[in-house]
This record gives sequence, C-alpha cells and structure tokens, in this order.
Amino acid sequence: MSNERTFTLTDNQSGDSWDLPVMHGSMGPDVIDVRKLYAQTGCFTYDPGFTSTGSCESKITYIDGDNGVLLYRGYPIEQLAEHSDFMEVCYLLLYGNLPTAGEKSKFEHDITYHTMIHEQMQTFLRGFRRDAHPMAVMCGMVGALSAFYHDSLDISDPKHRMISSYRMIAKMPTIAALAYKYNLGQPYVYPKNKLRYAENFLHMMFSNPCEEYEIDPVLARAMDVILILHADHEQNASTSTVRLAGSSGANPFACISAGIASLWGPAHGGANEAVLNMLEEIGDASQIEKYVEKAKDKDDPFRLMGFGHRVYKNFDPRSRVMRTQCHKVLDALGVHDEPLLEIALQLEKIALEDDYFIEKKLYPNVDFYSGIIFKAMGIPTTMFTALFAVARTVGWIAQWNEMIEDPSQKIGRPRQLFTGAEQREYVHVDKR
Ligand code: SDX
Repeated sequence: MSNERTFTLTDNQSGDSWDLPVMHGSMGPDVIDVRKLYAQTGCFTYDPGFTSTGSCESKITYIDGDNGVLLYRGYPIEQLAEHSDFMEVCYLLLYGNLPTAGEKSKFEHDITYHTMIHEQMQTFLRGFRRDAHPMAVMCGMVGALSAFYHDSLDISDPKHRMISSYRMIAKMPTIAALAYKYNLGQPYVYPKNKLRYAENFLHMMFSNPCEEYEIDPVLARAMDVILILHADHEQNASTSTVRLAGSSGANPFACISAGIASLWGPAHGGANEAVLNMLEEIGDASQIEKYVEKAKDKDDPFRLMGFGHRVYKNFDPRSRVMRTQCHKVLDALGVHDEPLLEIALQLEKIALEDDYFIEKKLYPNVDFYSGIIFKAMGIPTTMFTALFAVARTVGWIAQWNEMIEDPSQKIGRPRQLFTGAEQREYVHVDKR
C-alpha cells in the first residue's frame, strides 16, 4: 500500500472511480492534483472565482487566513515592517533571501540608476486629458514601456528578465509621480539619485521648482512601511492577471500593465480609494449604524469598503500595522482630530461587534486604514491605487519570474460549463 495520499472520486452512475494524487507543500493546505481529471473522467472541475483552486506552485508569499499570518519568503510581515525597508524587501521577494549589506547596497544602486524614464514618454503622456485618472495613465505608460526597451524583451533570457524587472521596480514611482504632476498641471520632477526609494517618491510627488522640499523622515518611513505592506500577496486577482498574461509569453511591461488594470477595481486595489469616499459619504459617526445596516442588507449593493477578504477570515495583519502607522503619521503631522479616522475607528469597533460581520468573518483589510494615512500625507484619493500599484510591482514581477522559470509552466487556458444554445441552422433574415 503506497503511503501516497490520494482522494478517490466515484461516478455514482457508472460506478467508475479514480484515485487523484494529493500534493503536499511546506505549509498550508494540500492540493488535489486534477491535471488528468478531464482525460480520465471527461469532466472539468467548476470553480468560478477560484475559491478552492490552486493555480500554481509558489515559494514567494504564504498567507494563513484563519490565523492572520502573512510571510514574504518565510519572514512575518510584522517583522519586515518593523526592521526592514522596501528595497531590502524587493531583493527578498526577487531572490528568495535577505541580502548581505553588499548585496543590498548594489541592488539599491542598480534600482536607483534606472529610475528615469525615456524623455519621449512625456510626449505619450501629453496625449491624456489633464483630468485622466492616474491609474489610466499608469496602464498606458507602463504598457508603452515595451515600445522603449527592445533590448530586454526576450523573456527566455534570465538577463533580459532581470533588467526588465529592475526597470519596472525603478520606474513605477517616477511614472506614478508623473501622472500626479500632470493632473496638477505642475512640472514633472526628475528623480534624484542621492535619495532612497521612498524619499525619492515623495520628492517627485511633492517638490516643485519654486522652493526647497524638505523630506519629513517620519513620512518617508511611513511610505517605506506602506510599500512593504503592499508588496506581494500570493495569487490575488492582479497577480493572477500578470501570471495569466505572462503565460502566453507577453513581455513583462505588458503583463504589469494588465496587473495595474486588474488592481484598479474597487473590489481589489481600488478599495483604498473607495474607503475614503465611503468615510466621506458617512460623514459623521452618527451615520455609521445606518451604513452598517446598508452593508448587511442583501438588497442593497453597498458594501463596507476595506472590510472582508477572500483569504483572511481573521484580522489582515497588514491592517494592524497600517493602523499603527496611521497614528504615527497623524501625530507627526500634528493632526489630532482627523474626523475620518474617528469615523474609521468607530466603524471598525461597531462592525467587529456586529453578528453579521462576526458570522461572515469580515475584518478590516489592508485598504481600510491606508487611505487615511495617504490623505494625511497630502496624497489625493485618486492616487491611492497608483501607490498600491507602485508597491505591488515587485510582487507581480517576482511572481512573473517564478512562473517563467517554472518547468511545468504552460499557457493558462481555463475551460467552462456551457449552458448556451445547442447547435442550430442559420435562418436568412427574410425568413425570421
Ligand atoms: C485587496 O486577494 C487579495 O489578496 C487582495 C488584496 C491584496 O493584497 O492583493 O488583499 C488586496 O483587494 C483587499 C480587499 C479590498 N476590497 C474591499 O475592501 C472591497 C469590500 N470587500 C468585498 O468586496 C469582499 O470582501 C472581497 C471582494 C474583498 C472578498 O469577496 P469574496 O471573497 O468573494 O467574498 P464574498 O463577496 O462572497 O462575501 C462573502 C459574504 C457575502 O455574503 P453572502 O453572499 O455569503 O450572504 O460576505 C459578504 C458578502 O455579501 N461581504 C460583505 C463584505 N464583504 C463580503 N458584506 C458587507 N461588506 C463587505 N465589505
């Protein structure tokens, strides 16, 4: 008797049965290998939204949703947020281990020296209306990078993949800040090589040619922590989009552009913008009960944005770190009576005591507090998801590299349960 674990599937009509092999990972649930199921049974599995489906094998990020655990290459997010910085986390996600001091310094140098974008991209940018949503600009500009870097589009070449990865990580803050300045009608601010990643981002967002811009170290550290918290998150919708796009052999810039498009949705990365809009709509703590009731009403499409998660059925560990950062940033800025924070704290308390949220295990997720911090830092609501995209680029690109290097990788091509019209003959229009 083999000690290999299997699940036996039996067809109750034909009496046929099949043993499906079970694959065991280093942590988390086992998976039932259904790769041969269709050939053996003539049936597909059916799992819209992939609630019970593992799409790949990965070594990058592990989430235990029941216990609120998030690990990047085995390191708890709380420890990385406290002790690490975003460049070190980028290295960790890309290469699998924390860098030595020398490795980190070289990595940071190499990323820094790719932060400029081709000057001609300014022309491309000018095609957008001034009031274009920054995420529309990001989708367009990142996709357009494929038109500028023909020297690194051979995805079968590890050197090309790595230079494209570095370029993506390096240029995202520049493009995001460019979109913001374009919205404002202010001149584009070039990156400064002497600044560290998060500082450079704040510099490109907030400095202008008319005055010196002092970088507040508390805000720079808060931005660094926020980037760490948003860097990767297993096979979420936008990462799965990048993997699916990449599985056809599309170039990395096009794949990241697809990831940005997916992240934009309010059910995903767009939730941080939606949370701020929701808190502003609630307007006053006295209205919270009304909105909580709306969120519970099946006939009302309103949902509490920033609450709930496909995987976390406990606290999202990132939201706890974000809440701490929120208080630090508001204290540093001398903001003591931020009404939106009061509403958010009240909303969180009420929701967490409400049977509906308790029963459905709806907790605050990463997006619940981030918008309050961004607003306090002077970042407009429309830029919130663009910041999420800046952070998540390293996760997308690490997952994309892992997929390309996976020997079992093949083009993603799901099937379906067809319930449409059966075959019928064409009827000419004068006979209909
Ligand atoms: C992110 O996947 C990731 O890892 C994403 C992310 C990442 O880092 O990449 O973590 C980032 O996207 C965080 C999520 C941000 N989105 C929001 O805050 C939007 C509000 N949340 C929901 O739309 C919802 O919770 C989702 C989309 C996040 C998760 O949806 P699921 O897993 O498909 O769950 P569901 O919609 O089936 O909800 C389960 C039940 C439903 O009720 P029933 O049909 O069972 O009666 O809970 C209810 C839902 O109606 N519900 C909510 C709710 N979220 C779920 N009810 C009120 N308010 C909510 N926010």
